[in-house]
Amino acid sequence: MKTLVVMNEKGGVGKTNIVAHAGWYFAEKHRTLVIDLDQQANLTQTLGAHLAQTESVELFAEPTRVPPVGDLTVTRSTRDLLGVEGVDRACIETFRDSIREMAEAEDYDVCVIDTPPALTNRTFGALLAADAVLAPIGLNDYSVAGITELLRAIKGVSQFYQRAEPLFLGLLPSIFDRKSKRERELFEDLAAQAGKLLFPGLVAKRDAYARAATDREPVWAMKGAAARDAANEIRDVFQTVAMRMELGK
Ligand SMILES: Nc1ncnc2c1ncn2[C@@H]1O[C@H](COP(=O)(O)OP(=O)(O)O)[C@@H](O)[C@H]1O
Ligand SMILES: [Mg+2]
Repeated sequence: MKTLVVMNEKGGVGKTNIVAHAGWYFAEKHRTLVIDLDQQANLTQTLGAHLAQTESVELFAEPTRVPPVGDLTVTRSTRDLLGVEGVDRACIETFRDSIREMAEAEDYDVCVIDTPPALTNRTFGALLAADAVLAPIGLNDYSVAGITELLRAIKGVSQFYQRAEPLFLGLLPSIFDRKSKRERELFEDLAAQAGKLLFPGLVAKRDAYARAATDREPVWAMKGAAARDAANEIRDVFQTVAMRMELGK
C-alpha cells in the first residue's frame, strides 16, 4: 500500500476536492482507502456512499485496520478528531502504526489522506505515514512564507522521527482562475521563484468541481463539455501522481 497525503495548512485551497476525486480515480483500478482527518467532514459527506464502520479517530487510539467495504473505503470524520489535538503526541505514532499494519497486511493498494487546515497532531500523523505528499495551493493568496512553512513541516516531521522524507509531488494550483490576469501573473511569478516545487499540472476553477461535492459524483460522471474539460484535467493530474508513486496498473 502506498500512502498519499494531501496537505496545506490553509483552508479553502481545494484539498478536499482533490482527495475526493483521487479516491474515485484510484478506486477504478486499485483497492483504495480514503481517510478524512478534517473535523469539518466535507469529504465524509461527498464520499458518503463508501463509508466504513471505522471512524478516522480510531486510527489514533490504537493500531487499527479498516475492513474494506468495496473498491473504495472511506473512514468517517467526527468532531472527536479534535480530541487528538491534546498534549499527548503518542497518537501521532499510533496513527502511523495503523497505516503500517494495513500496508503490511496488504489490505489496500493505495491510501489517500485528507488533512485539516492546521499543522497539528493529525497532520503530523499523516506526514509520518506518508509515502508521498501533494500540496494544493490557491494562487490568489499564496505566500512564499506559507510555502516555506509547509516544506519545513514535512521535513521537520521526518527529522524528528528519524525517517526518510516522503516524496514531495509538488505544489498544485488547485482553484486556478485562468480568467484572472492577477492569478496568471502570480502563477508566472511562482513558476519563476519556485518552478522546481510546482507539480506538472493544474486544476482550474470550474463549476463542475463545486457541483461534484454536492452531487457526490466525480466530474467525469457529469454530462457536457465543461465537465469533460474538468475530467481531462484532473485525470491527468492523477495519472502523473500514480506514475510518480509507482502505483502500477
Ligand atoms: N477547482 C475548483 N473549482 C471550483 N470550485 C472548487 C474547486 N476546488 C474546490 N472548489 C470548491 O471550493 C470550496 C473549497 O474547496 P475544498 O476542496 O473544500 O478546499 P479545502 O479542503 O482546502 O478547504 C469547496 O466549496 C469546493 O467545492
Ligand atoms: Mg478540506
